[in-house]
Amino acid sequence: VAEPYQRILLLFAHPAIEKSRVNRELLAEARTLPGVTVRDLYEIYPDLIIDVRAEQSLLIEHDVVLLQHPFYWYSTPAILKEWMDLVLEYGFAYGDKGTALRGKSWVHAITTGGSEEAYTAEGANRFTMRELLAPLDQTATLCGMNFLEPFLLHGVLAYHSERDIPVARRAYRKFLETLTRTESGGHA
Ligand SMILES: Cc1cc2nc3c(=O)[nH]c(=O)nc-3n(C[C@H](O)[C@H](O)[C@H](O)COP(=O)(O)O)c2cc1C
Repeated sequence: VAEPYQRILLLFAHPAIEKSRVNRELLAEARTLPGVTVRDLYEIYPDLIIDVRAEQSLLIEHDVVLLQHPFYWYSTPAILKEWMDLVLEYGFAYGDKGTALRGKSWVHAITTGGSEEAYTAEGANRFTMRELLAPLDQTATLCGMNFLEPFLLHGVLAYHSERDIPVARRAYRKFLETLTRTESGGHA
């Protein structure tokens, strides 16, 4: 009997990967794992013109959509918003006949410049990550998807490659390995 595992579609969004320190390393780690389809959205769509049918087919073929990105203005980089606006179409992702994504999972892997303490009611950012992610959680929920606990790396601007980057890579690898093994109901 084959091991049940989740097929992961990793949508990577960083507008300047050559300037990225952390996300670039995390992506390199993800590329070493079987069962993870990596799509660098800014590389594939430098003009932001998204191939909606291609993206929808990829979603159908996977159990989990993982959005990996730096936190930009308390949200995703622009291309992921464009992806949501176009790909999560009425009749596909929601609405009477829009059942294509039901039972699948949606999860984020996010790096933030702000520290963990900054993302509290008393902190500089006033809200927790969970609160700030509410529109994304509800988007997934409207599509009948399970919004899983995000992978969060805070305070990454203070990262020192020699020390912190390998630790971050290992943590991300563990997160991805757990994700490939977590039954989301996508096969049900
Ligand atoms: C346009 C822009 C917006 C940003 N907004 C936030 C933010 O809202 N909260 C935060 O903690 N960090 C913010 N940052 C910092 C980024 O999250 C940080 O630079 C990134 O996670 C570093 O990852 P990288 O090394 O892969 O580029 C922002 C950075 C940029 C360039």
